[in-house]
Amino acid sequence: MICLGIESTAHTFGVGIVDANGTILSNVIRPFTTKKGGIIPGRAADHHAEICDLALGEALVAAKIKMKDVGLVAFSQGPGIGQCLQVGAFAARTLSLANKLPLVGVNHCIAHLEIGKLLTGANDPVLLYVSGTNTQVIASGEGRYRIIGETLDIGVGNFLDSFARHIGLGFPGGPRIEELAVKGTKYIDLPYVVKGMDISLGGILTNLKQKFDSGLGKEDLCFSLQETVFAMLIEVSERAMAHLGNDELLLGGGVACNSRLQEMARVMCLDRGAKLFVPADRKVLVDNGAMIAWAGLLAFKRGGALNISDSFIKPYWRTDQF
Ligand code: ATP
Ligand code: FE2
Repeated sequence: MICLGIESTAHTFGVGIVDANGTILSNVIRPFTTKKGGIIPGRAADHHAEICDLALGEALVAAKIKMKDVGLVAFSQGPGIGQCLQVGAFAARTLSLANKLPLVGVNHCIAHLEIGKLLTGANDPVLLYVSGTNTQVIASGEGRYRIIGETLDIGVGNFLDSFARHIGLGFPGGPRIEELAVKGTKYIDLPYVVKGMDISLGGILTNLKQKFDSGLGKEDLCFSLQETVFAMLIEVSERAMAHLGNDELLLGGGVACNSRLQEMARVMCLDRGAKLFVPADRKVLVDNGAMIAWAGLLAFKRGGALNISDSFIKPYWRTDQF
């Protein structure tokens, strides 16, 4: 069975096509970006509506199939921005009804975990999911997914983007901060905020902005920011692995593209005799439709199709409510 998956939780509108063996036939990603960054939900949703038909066509052409070859339609049902989610849900319902195809709703965070497992061969890993809005340490157990730790305020990607905007780096900020961090030579002390299994980033952001405004250099601040915040993420991930007796760590989400974060994760895993898994293709780390299609195939196998009347969006859907 071939599944067509639609992603539209935030900036990105994506259409991915995946077959039952987990082969990605196509993965079209169309992000909504502005020079300054940030997101105006209504404008992002307009972008998704405008691009929807084109992205769908491109995904079918790239996969070398026609709509009649598709056997299942999946969409990101949540969590995410309501207006953006509505566009993907509407497109998916329309495709399902017009082509008489079963429909499934997918939890976006779990899709990041499942595509990572598929592509790396990880068996039952702890996932460090680090994206714009979401920062969670996730593990599965007893047939459910659990959030072992998470950010108490903002996601690490939004944190990076906000600081980058403040110092004039543009959007997305993560890759620009990574470039500058390499040039940093001096570690500047920053608050280190781990609370149990959770982290908090709002205070560090304010502190960084104040330090920049008082004249400290961009390079050293970016370097210190990465060393501090990534250490917090790795500490919580390591503790989750220790508590669960789990020796596999998987990275997912856009911030997982960062080489320094990957390196710190690799060192931690090496130290404890664990294995690190990072999907090689950046396109499956960021928000994308292929992960929705794959998680859709798994959800369909497990629970069958969703009734149209149950296909309402779930902007606040928690990973552990799955
Ligand atoms: P969601 O949180 O709903 O998953 P999103 O669109 O914000 O949505 P992603 O596409 O997974 O999430 O990731 C985008 C984030 O990844 C941005 O905040 C961006 O700055 C960050 N990012 C991308 N590349 C890097 C990098 N090399 N280093 C650090 N951060 C990065
Ligand atoms: Fe995501």
